[in-house]
Amino acid sequence: MTQDELKTVVGRAALRYVPLGEVVGVGTGSTVNKFIEALATMKDQIRGAVSSSEASTDRLRALGIRVFDANEVEELAVYIDGADEIDGQGCMIKGGGAALTREKIVAAQSRRFICIADESKKVEVLGKYPLPVEIIPMATQRIVRKFAALGGTATVRLRYDNPLVTDNGQHILDVTGLSIRDPLAFETEVKQWPGVVEVGVFAQQKAAVCLLGTSGGVQTLNF
Ligand code: 5RP
Repeated sequence: MTQDELKTVVGRAALRYVPLGEVVGVGTGSTVNKFIEALATMKDQIRGAVSSSEASTDRLRALGIRVFDANEVEELAVYIDGADEIDGQGCMIKGGGAALTREKIVAAQSRRFICIADESKKVEVLGKYPLPVEIIPMATQRIVRKFAALGGTATVRLRYDNPLVTDNGQHILDVTGLSIRDPLAFETEVKQWPGVVEVGVFAQQKAAVCLLGTSGGVQTLNF
């Protein structure tokens, strides 16, 4: 199976975690796009969705799924989203689609994070994938130096030769050269640096379940 086919398979497999009659948390990315397509087939059986990005909101609405503001819903049973990397404990790197801050907010208001990913995302240690960090632009160079002190190289993510601007109006740093052996300690430390809006390590909001698309079928990893 191609990577795209694996994404389709796990996107469909995630339907079994969708609570009937409720609002579901929906992430961002190419794997989630497959899930959104699948979700549309049962749109009459759910109340709607809370979305983690403008891009997912547009897709959900285009398929006739009602999108609630996060403030309209106190708690969600599940949040379904992809990952750039996931380790053996369910900790993840996320933010390849620049939506990490809203993703963490919706994950935090959900009881269970269901990760959908193809097998290329499974790693022993987080950090091979460049770590996305959403930042306030005026703090850029200071945060670049902070990552350099940890052995990382941080660069501003560009779009059409200019800094990419997130849904929250901020910038993204992508950090290479890190080996994140204690994701919770790393997330806690970086999160408190002034100017960091959010760090793309998801250890506090780690996955409860990962549906991993493999050539042998969908593996369910419980953490
Ligand atoms: C977006 C994300 C995505 O979940 C992550 O980048 C995986 O995306 P894809 O399913 O396209 O591989 O964190 O901010």
